[in-house]
Amino acid sequence: MDYKKLVEMAYEAMENAYVPYSNFNVGAALLGKSGKVYKGCNVECASYGGTNCAERTALFKAVSEGEREFTAIAIVSRTRDITSPCGICRQVLAEFGTDLDVILAKDLEYKVYKLSELLPLNFTSDELDK
Ligand code: THU
Repeated sequence: MDYKKLVEMAYEAMENAYVPYSNFNVGAALLGKSGKVYKGCNVECASYGGTNCAERTALFKAVSEGEREFTAIAIVSRTRDITSPCGICRQVLAEFGTDLDVILAKDLEYKVYKLSELLPLNFTSDELDK
């Protein structure tokens, strides 16, 4: 899929952000290997720790629908510059592979990173066997 289209879908997802506390809207669109796209927004909570980022919303939607292999994720917000995924989201995305293209966009301009670049030396399930 054209990454510009994936970025547009992330912007669509951002419209649903529930952000009464931060007023910081984030949208994500995650492309599964099946070709299906899962859109996610951030959902905040009065008990702040209950907040879920856009990236994890998209990922959890996908995994709960049976998709476990992914090609790319586009991430957008309303800030002047690109928005980079938080550490928790990087780790949770890495659970399903670090060869993921992470598309950080502002309007229709974007940069593509590999998740492995954004989360070097990540903790993996291999560690659990030691
Ligand atoms: N947030 C995301 O949704 N994704 C990120 O990558 C960074 C932060 C959300 C969480 C919270 O709702 C708001 O942005 C401010 O931290």
